[in-house]
Amino acid sequence: MSDILIKPARAVSGTFTVPGDKSISHRALILSAMAEGKSKISGLSDARDVASTRQCIEKLGIKISSLKGGIIAVAGKGKYGFREAKAPLDAGNSGSTIRLLSGVAAAQPFTTTITGDESLCRRPMRRIIEPLEQMGAHIESNGYKAPLVIRGGALRSIDYASTIASAQVKSCILLAGLYANGTTRVTEPSPSRDHTERMLESFGVKARFSQSGAGVQGPATLQACDVTIPGDLSSASFFLVMASLLADSEITIQQVSVNPTRMGIYDALSAMGAMIQASPAVILQGEPRADLSVRSSKLHAAALGGSMIPRIIDEIPVLAVAATQAQGVTTIRDAGELRLKESDRLAAICKNLSAMGANIRETKDGMIITGPTPLHGAEIDSYDDHRIAMAFAVAGLIASGETLIKNGTCTEISFPGFFGLLDRIRHD
Ligand code: S3P
Repeated sequence: MSDILIKPARAVSGTFTVPGDKSISHRALILSAMAEGKSKISGLSDARDVASTRQCIEKLGIKISSLKGGIIAVAGKGKYGFREAKAPLDAGNSGSTIRLLSGVAAAQPFTTTITGDESLCRRPMRRIIEPLEQMGAHIESNGYKAPLVIRGGALRSIDYASTIASAQVKSCILLAGLYANGTTRVTEPSPSRDHTERMLESFGVKARFSQSGAGVQGPATLQACDVTIPGDLSSASFFLVMASLLADSEITIQQVSVNPTRMGIYDALSAMGAMIQASPAVILQGEPRADLSVRSSKLHAAALGGSMIPRIIDEIPVLAVAATQAQGVTTIRDAGELRLKESDRLAAICKNLSAMGANIRETKDGMIITGPTPLHGAEIDSYDDHRIAMAFAVAGLIASGETLIKNGTCTEISFPGFFGLLDRIRHD
């Protein structure tokens, strides 16, 4: 990984797309692999995390090929069409890969070992181990952390009341539930993203879902389906914030996912006074998509907490940068989950924004930011966390002087073309 130097920009402008949604891409690969027949996926994310999912599935014996026009074909062999991998699966940096695939591995008549990089091996896995064991799987772990050795077998359905709002946990259990007899239900304290539930319907499986949770009826059979993936709103959010903060800026990002469970960034920025607009949405395979336009505006502070948090969980780093330029005191509460992401994001945001001159205080489950405060360039630690690197690239654009982002190229985890796109739309 290399460092990245960010110089201040005067403005950004243009109309462009961002890569396919990462969460939807993982699910498209996994459900296609479980389905009977060939599925074609358009707009699959080129993120390193998604490549990890693809490689894991291939190691489980599923053929995936790249066709013309960036289309990916997955030759699904049904939900028992996997074969035992010869070596441990490597989920790399990707929580979605390890947690979702664990739900599938738990039901296979063989053993699967899944591991990942140093960051992934620090992240909590008890949240999936406990429900999968209740369903009948046997999982060995390193103190509830990866590597996981999953001894799969016949599963029974469960009613699971998750204490955390996590789409990765919910999806893991629902995928396992597709193999169990009866209804598997998951409830959660606030709604998390619902891409698995929506996509299951496209693959011919009726998933029931509401504000409080989701359920599937097993055993279920998935039929191959063609999926067109919308742009990733989480990747778009860095551009939405930079265009709001830099004077004389106006951008349009085309065909971005506007799934309501992900739209917290739109709602939060609107509440802060951003001039942001969405075109009428088009729904394909259950997922709405629209063009988002935003132009420069003066922002004011907001209070972010409660059920809003799962809807902005990946956007809090860049929203914190926006808050430094907003008039008043922005509070972020109930966001303790951020300490358990690719890095401790609460600590990373507060340490780095303080180094750039922001008025920010870290709390147990969030932060308090008083603005507006001019930022100055500094040496920033990305903590090898893609969303920290991109949030601080945005901070660097609005700061005076130069900002050096250590290991800034970790952006490849979710958005390999991030810095190239930034160079194309910036004006100095
Ligand atoms: C994801 C869910 C979220 C999110 C992550 C991707 C998914 O994690 O932070 O980047 O694809 O389901 P949690 O569900 O654990 O909060």
